[in-house]
Amino acid sequence: EFHKHPRDLELASDGPLGKFDMRQVQRGMQVYKEVCSACHSLRLVSFRDIKDMGYSDGQVKAFAASYDNIPSINPDTGEAATRKGVPSDRFPSPFANEVAARAANNNALPPDLSLMAKARHEGPAYIYSLLTGYQNQPAKLLKEFPDAKTPAGLHYNPYFANLNIAMAPPLTADGQVTYTDGTKSTVDQMAKDVAAFLSWTAEPKLQARHTVGFAAMLFLLVFCFLAYGAYQNVWRNVK
Ligand code: HEM
Repeated sequence: EFHKHPRDLELASDGPLGKFDMRQVQRGMQVYKEVCSACHSLRLVSFRDIKDMGYSDGQVKAFAASYDNIPSINPDTGEAATRKGVPSDRFPSPFANEVAARAANNNALPPDLSLMAKARHEGPAYIYSLLTGYQNQPAKLLKEFPDAKTPAGLHYNPYFANLNIAMAPPLTADGQVTYTDGTKSTVDQMAKDVAAFLSWTAEPKLQARHTVGFAAMLFLLVFCFLAYGAYQNVWRNVK
Protein backbone atom coordinates (compact mmCIF):
# COMPACT_ATOMS: atom_id res chain seq x y z
CA GLU A 1 0.00 0.00 0.00
CA PHE A 2 2.84 2.42 0.78
CA HIS A 3 5.17 1.17 -1.94
CA LYS A 4 4.39 3.08 -5.14
CA HIS A 5 4.50 2.08 -8.78
CA PRO A 6 6.86 4.36 -10.81
CA ARG A 7 5.39 7.55 -12.23
CA ASP A 8 4.97 7.81 -16.00
CA LEU A 9 8.07 8.85 -17.91
CA GLU A 10 8.07 9.42 -21.65
CA LEU A 11 11.37 9.07 -23.46
CA ALA A 12 12.14 9.42 -27.17
CA SER A 13 13.52 5.87 -27.09
CA ASP A 14 10.15 4.36 -26.04
CA GLY A 15 8.15 2.11 -28.34
CA PRO A 16 9.15 -0.18 -31.20
CA LEU A 17 10.43 2.69 -33.36
CA GLY A 18 11.93 4.89 -30.64
CA LYS A 19 15.25 6.65 -31.08
CA PHE A 20 17.37 8.19 -28.34
CA ASP A 21 17.22 11.93 -27.91
CA MET A 22 21.02 12.19 -27.89
CA ARG A 23 21.02 15.73 -26.53
CA GLN A 24 19.05 14.48 -23.56
CA VAL A 25 21.33 11.47 -23.19
CA GLN A 26 24.34 13.81 -23.21
CA ARG A 27 22.75 15.98 -20.53
CA GLY A 28 22.09 12.84 -18.51
CA MET A 29 25.74 11.91 -18.75
CA GLN A 30 26.61 15.32 -17.37
CA VAL A 31 24.35 14.67 -14.38
CA TYR A 32 25.86 11.21 -13.93
CA LYS A 33 29.40 12.62 -14.11
CA GLU A 34 28.86 15.56 -11.80
CA VAL A 35 26.58 13.87 -9.26
CA CYS A 36 26.12 10.09 -9.43
CA SER A 37 29.73 9.17 -10.24
CA ALA A 38 30.69 10.27 -6.73
CA CYS A 39 29.30 6.88 -5.65
CA HIS A 40 28.27 4.77 -8.66
CA SER A 41 30.34 3.10 -11.40
CA LEU A 42 29.32 2.07 -14.92
CA ARG A 43 31.59 -0.90 -15.25
CA LEU A 44 30.04 -2.19 -18.48
CA VAL A 45 30.47 1.09 -20.34
CA SER A 46 33.78 2.20 -21.92
CA PHE A 47 34.56 5.86 -22.48
CA ARG A 48 34.87 5.18 -26.21
CA ASP A 49 31.25 3.98 -26.27
CA ILE A 50 30.09 7.58 -25.89
CA LYS A 51 31.12 8.19 -29.50
CA ASP A 52 27.70 6.75 -30.33
CA MET A 53 26.18 9.67 -28.41
CA GLY A 54 27.66 12.04 -30.99
CA TYR A 55 31.04 12.92 -29.48
CA SER A 56 34.23 13.22 -31.56
CA ASP A 57 37.42 11.25 -30.90
CA GLY A 58 38.96 14.34 -29.34
CA GLN A 59 36.01 14.84 -27.02
CA VAL A 60 36.11 11.18 -25.99
CA LYS A 61 39.82 11.46 -25.16
CA ALA A 62 39.28 14.62 -23.15
CA PHE A 63 36.34 13.07 -21.31
CA ALA A 64 38.35 9.94 -20.46
CA ALA A 65 41.27 12.07 -19.29
CA SER A 66 38.95 13.99 -16.95
CA TYR A 67 39.01 10.85 -14.76
CA ASP A 68 42.21 10.44 -12.76
CA ASN A 69 41.17 7.46 -10.64
CA ILE A 70 41.55 4.51 -13.02
CA PRO A 71 43.00 1.63 -11.00
CA SER A 72 46.46 0.62 -12.17
CA ILE A 73 49.81 -0.59 -10.91
CA ASN A 74 52.91 1.46 -10.29
CA PRO A 75 55.42 -0.14 -12.70
CA ASP A 76 58.37 0.65 -10.42
CA THR A 77 57.06 -0.58 -7.09
CA GLY A 78 54.29 -2.95 -8.16
CA GLU A 79 51.92 -1.22 -5.77
CA ALA A 80 48.33 -0.26 -6.53
CA ALA A 81 48.08 3.18 -8.09
CA THR A 82 45.71 5.29 -10.13
CA ARG A 83 46.15 6.95 -13.49
CA LYS A 84 44.27 9.13 -15.97
CA GLY A 85 41.61 7.57 -18.14
CA VAL A 86 42.00 6.61 -21.81
CA PRO A 87 39.11 5.83 -24.20
CA SER A 88 39.35 2.05 -23.67
CA ASP A 89 38.79 2.34 -19.89
CA ARG A 90 35.42 1.73 -18.26
CA PHE A 91 33.62 4.33 -16.15
CA PRO A 92 35.33 3.54 -12.83
CA SER A 93 34.04 3.13 -9.33
CA PRO A 94 35.07 6.03 -7.12
CA PHE A 95 35.92 3.52 -4.38
CA ALA A 96 38.95 1.25 -4.26
CA ASN A 97 36.85 -1.74 -3.19
CA GLU A 98 33.61 -2.82 -1.52
CA VAL A 99 34.90 -2.22 1.99
CA ALA A 100 35.80 1.37 1.15
CA ALA A 101 32.46 1.85 -0.65
CA ARG A 102 30.48 0.61 2.35
CA ALA A 103 32.60 2.60 4.77
CA ALA A 104 31.66 5.77 2.91
CA ASN A 105 27.95 4.90 2.67
CA ASN A 106 26.75 3.88 6.07
CA ASN A 107 27.49 0.24 5.27
CA ALA A 108 25.33 0.26 2.11
CA LEU A 109 26.84 -0.52 -1.30
CA PRO A 110 26.07 1.83 -4.19
CA PRO A 111 25.24 -0.57 -7.04
CA ASP A 112 26.80 -0.33 -10.50
CA LEU A 113 24.34 1.59 -12.67
CA SER A 114 25.20 0.15 -16.13
CA LEU A 115 22.14 -2.10 -16.27
CA MET A 116 19.96 -0.46 -13.63
CA ALA A 117 17.44 0.62 -16.29
CA LYS A 118 16.95 -3.08 -17.15
CA ALA A 119 17.30 -4.52 -13.67
CA ARG A 120 14.26 -2.78 -12.20
CA HIS A 121 10.65 -2.98 -13.31
CA GLU A 122 10.04 -0.03 -15.67
CA GLY A 123 13.67 0.92 -15.09
CA PRO A 124 13.88 4.44 -16.57
CA ALA A 125 10.58 5.49 -14.96
CA TYR A 126 11.75 3.89 -11.70
CA ILE A 127 15.03 5.82 -11.72
CA TYR A 128 13.18 9.06 -12.45
CA SER A 129 10.62 8.39 -9.72
CA LEU A 130 13.20 7.30 -7.16
CA LEU A 131 15.26 10.45 -7.67
CA THR A 132 12.25 12.75 -7.37
CA GLY A 133 10.35 10.67 -4.81
CA TYR A 134 12.04 11.40 -1.48
CA GLN A 135 9.50 12.61 1.08
CA ASN A 136 8.52 12.50 4.73
CA GLN A 137 6.95 9.33 6.01
CA PRO A 138 3.15 9.47 5.68
CA ALA A 139 1.43 9.92 9.04
CA LYS A 140 -0.83 6.99 8.18
CA LEU A 141 2.13 4.62 7.91
CA LEU A 142 3.54 5.71 11.26
CA LYS A 143 0.12 5.34 12.85
CA GLU A 144 -0.40 1.83 11.50
CA PHE A 145 3.19 0.67 11.93
CA PRO A 146 4.98 2.77 14.56
CA ASP A 147 7.99 0.44 14.34
CA ALA A 148 8.45 1.32 10.66
CA LYS A 149 9.94 4.72 11.46
CA THR A 150 12.83 5.40 9.07
CA PRO A 151 16.03 4.52 10.95
CA ALA A 152 18.82 7.10 11.29
CA GLY A 153 21.00 7.15 8.18
CA LEU A 154 18.23 5.94 5.87
CA HIS A 155 15.78 7.99 3.82
CA TYR A 156 12.10 7.38 3.16
CA ASN A 157 11.29 6.85 -0.51
CA PRO A 158 8.01 5.17 -1.52
CA TYR A 159 9.47 4.02 -4.86
CA PHE A 160 12.22 1.98 -3.22
CA ALA A 161 11.10 -1.60 -2.62
CA ASN A 162 11.71 -1.60 1.12
CA LEU A 163 10.76 2.07 1.54
CA ASN A 164 13.93 3.17 3.35
CA ILE A 165 16.96 3.69 1.14
CA ALA A 166 20.56 4.29 2.16
CA MET A 167 21.14 6.79 -0.66
CA ALA A 168 20.59 10.38 0.45
CA PRO A 169 18.65 12.42 -2.13
CA PRO A 170 21.32 13.09 -4.76
CA LEU A 171 19.41 15.76 -6.69
CA THR A 172 18.35 18.41 -4.23
CA ALA A 173 18.39 21.80 -5.94
CA ASP A 174 17.44 23.27 -9.29
CA GLY A 175 20.59 24.36 -11.08
CA GLN A 176 22.76 21.74 -9.35
CA VAL A 177 24.25 20.97 -12.76
CA THR A 178 24.87 23.74 -15.31
CA TYR A 179 23.89 22.23 -18.62
CA THR A 180 26.24 23.06 -21.47
CA ASP A 181 23.31 23.10 -23.93
CA GLY A 182 21.46 25.80 -21.98
CA THR A 183 18.54 23.59 -20.87
CA LYS A 184 17.11 24.66 -17.52
CA SER A 185 18.31 22.15 -14.96
CA THR A 186 15.36 21.68 -12.66
CA VAL A 187 15.50 18.65 -10.39
CA ASP A 188 12.76 17.09 -12.52
CA GLN A 189 14.72 17.71 -15.74
CA MET A 190 17.97 16.32 -14.30
CA ALA A 191 16.18 13.20 -13.06
CA LYS A 192 14.60 12.63 -16.49
CA ASP A 193 17.89 13.21 -18.28
CA VAL A 194 19.87 10.83 -16.10
CA ALA A 195 17.12 8.22 -16.59
CA ALA A 196 17.53 8.69 -20.35
CA PHE A 197 21.31 8.33 -20.02
CA LEU A 198 20.95 5.13 -17.99
CA SER A 199 18.52 3.75 -20.62
CA TRP A 200 21.30 4.32 -23.12
CA THR A 201 24.01 2.67 -20.96
CA ALA A 202 21.72 -0.34 -20.47
CA GLU A 203 21.07 -0.75 -24.19
CA PRO A 204 23.28 1.42 -26.41
CA LYS A 205 22.31 -0.61 -29.49
CA LEU A 206 18.57 -0.02 -29.03
CA GLN A 207 18.25 2.05 -32.21
CA ALA A 208 19.95 -0.60 -34.34
CA ARG A 209 17.61 -3.20 -32.86
CA HIS A 210 14.57 -1.07 -33.66
CA THR A 211 15.76 -0.51 -37.26
CA VAL A 212 16.44 -4.20 -37.87
CA GLY A 213 13.15 -5.13 -36.23
CA PHE A 214 11.28 -2.78 -38.54
CA ALA A 215 13.04 -4.19 -41.62
CA ALA A 216 12.27 -7.74 -40.46
CA MET A 217 8.56 -6.95 -39.99
CA LEU A 218 8.46 -5.36 -43.44
CA PHE A 219 10.12 -8.42 -44.96
CA LEU A 220 7.69 -10.76 -43.24
CA LEU A 221 4.77 -8.70 -44.52
CA VAL A 222 6.02 -8.91 -48.12
CA PHE A 223 6.76 -12.62 -47.61
CA CYS A 224 3.22 -13.09 -46.41
CA PHE A 225 1.80 -11.94 -49.78
CA LEU A 226 4.41 -13.97 -51.68
CA ALA A 227 3.50 -17.09 -49.75
CA TYR A 228 -0.20 -16.53 -50.37
CA GLY A 229 0.48 -16.03 -54.11
CA ALA A 230 2.54 -19.21 -54.26
CA TYR A 231 -0.20 -21.13 -52.47
CA GLN A 232 -2.80 -19.94 -54.99
CA ASN A 233 -0.47 -20.86 -57.83
CA VAL A 234 0.44 -24.35 -56.60
CA TRP A 235 -3.16 -25.40 -55.89
CA ARG A 236 -4.61 -23.67 -59.01
CA ASN A 237 -5.61 -26.91 -60.80
CA VAL A 238 -6.79 -28.89 -57.85
CA LYS A 239 -10.53 -29.15 -57.34
C1 HEM B 1 21.34 3.12 -4.80
C2 HEM B 1 20.78 5.98 -8.70
C3 HEM B 1 23.76 9.25 -6.70
C4 HEM B 1 24.66 6.19 -3.05
C5 HEM B 1 20.92 3.63 -6.03
C6 HEM B 1 19.99 2.99 -6.93
C7 HEM B 1 19.83 3.79 -8.00
C8 HEM B 1 20.67 4.94 -7.80
C9 HEM B 1 18.95 3.55 -9.23
C10 HEM B 1 19.40 1.60 -6.73
C11 HEM B 1 18.09 1.55 -6.04
C12 HEM B 1 17.62 0.12 -6.09
O1 HEM B 1 18.35 -0.76 -5.65
O2 HEM B 1 16.51 -0.11 -6.59
C13 HEM B 1 21.54 7.12 -8.50
C14 HEM B 1 21.60 8.24 -9.42
C15 HEM B 1 22.39 9.17 -8.85
C16 HEM B 1 22.88 8.63 -7.58
C17 HEM B 1 20.90 8.28 -10.78
C18 HEM B 1 22.72 10.56 -9.36
C19 HEM B 1 21.73 11.37 -9.78
C20 HEM B 1 24.29 8.71 -5.56
C21 HEM B 1 25.26 9.33 -4.72
C22 HEM B 1 25.50 8.45 -3.68
C23 HEM B 1 24.67 7.29 -3.88
C24 HEM B 1 25.92 10.68 -4.99
C25 HEM B 1 26.46 8.59 -2.49
C26 HEM B 1 26.65 9.78 -1.85
C27 HEM B 1 23.81 5.10 -3.20
C28 HEM B 1 23.73 4.00 -2.25
C29 HEM B 1 22.78 3.11 -2.77
C30 HEM B 1 22.30 3.68 -4.01
C31 HEM B 1 24.54 3.85 -0.98
C32 HEM B 1 22.30 1.80 -2.13
C33 HEM B 1 21.01 2.10 -1.39
C34 HEM B 1 20.44 0.94 -0.62
O3 HEM B 1 20.71 -0.21 -0.96
O4 HEM B 1 19.71 1.21 0.38
N1 HEM B 1 21.32 4.84 -6.59
N2 HEM B 1 22.34 7.38 -7.40
N3 HEM B 1 23.95 7.47 -5.03
N4 HEM B 1 22.94 4.89 -4.23
FE1 HEM B 1 22.63 6.15 -5.78
